[in-house]
Amino acid sequence: MLSIDQLRDPKHYANVLKPPLEAENLPPWCYTDDGFYRLEIERVFMKVWNFVGRADLMANPGDYLATDVAGIPIIIIRDREGAVRAFANSCRHRGTQLLTGEGNCRAIVCPYHNWAFDLDGALVSAAGMEETVGFDKKDHALVPLRLESWAGFLFVNFDADAGSLLDYLGDLPDHVVAYDFPNLVTTRRKVWDVACNWKIYLENQRESYHIPTVHRESLGDQIATPLDVNGAWSGSLIGVEQTAAILKDDTTPFPPIASLTETEREASHFLGLYPNIYLVATTDCFWWMEIKPRGPARIELVVGSGFPKETIARDDFDDVVQRYYKRWDTSHDEDNRICEQQQIGVNSPLALPGRLARRERGVNAVDRWIVEQILAD
Ligand code: FES
Ligand SMILES: [Fe+2]
Repeated sequence: MLSIDQLRDPKHYANVLKPPLEAENLPPWCYTDDGFYRLEIERVFMKVWNFVGRADLMANPGDYLATDVAGIPIIIIRDREGAVRAFANSCRHRGTQLLTGEGNCRAIVCPYHNWAFDLDGALVSAAGMEETVGFDKKDHALVPLRLESWAGFLFVNFDADAGSLLDYLGDLPDHVVAYDFPNLVTTRRKVWDVACNWKIYLENQRESYHIPTVHRESLGDQIATPLDVNGAWSGSLIGVEQTAAILKDDTTPFPPIASLTETEREASHFLGLYPNIYLVATTDCFWWMEIKPRGPARIELVVGSGFPKETIARDDFDDVVQRYYKRWDTSHDEDNRICEQQQIGVNSPLALPGRLARRERGVNAVDRWIVEQILAD
């Protein structure tokens, strides 16, 4: 077991920081070690903007989503004025998790001793505390969290000193503005339990080298063109004829998003925004993979998908959309299984770092970003 200082020794990562075609991927223990995982929680997930959901999931006041960032429980809730807020999902009495799942509530009521918090986090009821010396409800509101949104995507940051979300995104929004995300509505979220490290999943999504092998029967090959990047992300364009969200069958796909320019009509955007969302936007829909670490060797993967409001209003939507869901379920199952198999292999004491192909430049981009966060002062 390595100490924090040993884990932060730059010598372990020198080969990761070389140019992609000279580099190695991260040492195998970065995908298995408890200490390295704790370092990532502290230096990555507690420092940067983490995706936590789409605003359209909480359309009305009182709608909430109890979720987590790398196991840290949080509440996302729309208040009476219509603003979406985030709070620590820990009761200010003795810490109990307040809400689970998703739903609508008029107040956030703790299941343990019934303390009740308003939708703005204020403690409004704490029966039985009348004799407690110096107790003032005003001092016991829920812990608020920084929440900012871009195009309906919600992000939380635990670090009071961090810059704005828009600074963090860099030029990512410029690449996908034509998809008109505020007009796209989430229609499904599917949750998968995958026995792999969170970086193994992110790396898988950021390389096209595996597509002709792992997705041979389902997707076929896809040739990716890397995008120039400014911000905490990396991404590629892939021709739409290779990336149609519907599997090749006789079904006529939905019409394209009305606002697209020629660029988006020709190529789909595949964007990995570190640390926990992989976003794909294509001509008629979008989907995302939200990566929720559950320790060094497990993730909960939430695959969300959405369509323009006009498409959802079509009479044939419920029927045709099943073809899209089938495509996603098929390809995600293929990725999940190979990621689990990779995890078994890197967990071996005999595993060694490997070299990368041209089609794996995205793996190096992910690994390089991780190393920069781990080594930052
Ligand atoms: S722990 Fe929440 S009311 Fe007691
Ligand atoms: Fe894949």
